[in-house]
Amino acid sequence: MAMKFNILAIVAILAATLHCSVAQRTHIVGDSLGWLVPPGGSIAYTTWASKQTFTVGDVLIFNFPTGIHNVAQVTRTSFDACNTTSPISLTTNGPANITLTTAGEHYYICTFSSHCDLGQKLAINVSAAPSTSPPPQSATPSPVPAPSPSRTPQTYIVGDNLGWLVPPGGSIAYRTWAATKTFLVGDILGA
Ligand SMILES: *[C@@H]1O[C@H](CO)[C@@H](O)[C@H](O)[C@H]1NC(C)=O
Ligand SMILES: *[C@@H]1O[C@H](CO)[C@@H](O)[C@H](O)[C@H]1NC(C)=O
Ligand SMILES: *[C@@H]1O[C@H](CO)[C@@H](O)[C@H](O)[C@H]1NC(C)=O
Repeated sequence: MAMKFNILAIVAILAATLHCSVAQRTHIVGDSLGWLVPPGGSIAYTTWASKQTFTVGDVLIFNFPTGIHNVAQVTRTSFDACNTTSPISLTTNGPANITLTTAGEHYYICTFSSHCDLGQKLAINVSAAPSTSPPPQSATPSPVPAPSPSRTPQTYIVGDNLGWLVPPGGSIAYRTWAATKTFLVGDILGA
């Protein structure tokens, strides 16, 4: 019963670990605001990002109609200067789902004329996915080691020269004979 309980506990822990390692959150950029030129400037996205925790594997969803905005990932320098020349990547179709594949700072802007300057820019900080610790040692039942024989099996002639008979002096003959021997599993008694 106790053993059964332990196994259930281990299965539960493994399931929880597995679930953790594949957990993936989606972040709708700007929430209901979506991805646009925000009325009050870039503070809208700065505020939004400050309330989120981004982890590798998470997905950013940029909600915008194709053709009037886009999403470009850029360097910090380009982000600060709203430089739309040669972005790291450019997604033109909205809504855009962007999976965060690396840790560190990520910068996104819209490359449409003056949109970035007007505040359509997002900086986020992505943390590495938590490392999944290896399952506890006890989770894998260690095989029972097979007994290793300390010598090759031996054949014993019971009573030696006496043989197997009614001994002249009584059972002491066989007890004396046996006392001088060491018997291991696999040995053979002959007569
Ligand atoms: C914009 O970025 C490009 C590529 O990184 C660079 O060659 C160019 O000089 C930058 N423009 C400005 C105005 O900084
Ligand atoms: C983007 O993510 C949303 C929410 O998870 C999902 O409903 C939608 O199908 C995804 N779109 C694409 C193109 O993957
Ligand atoms: C991002 O996180 C790293 C590690 O925690 C930190 O060193 C860095 O300053 C952060 N960057 C920003 C812009 O918050």
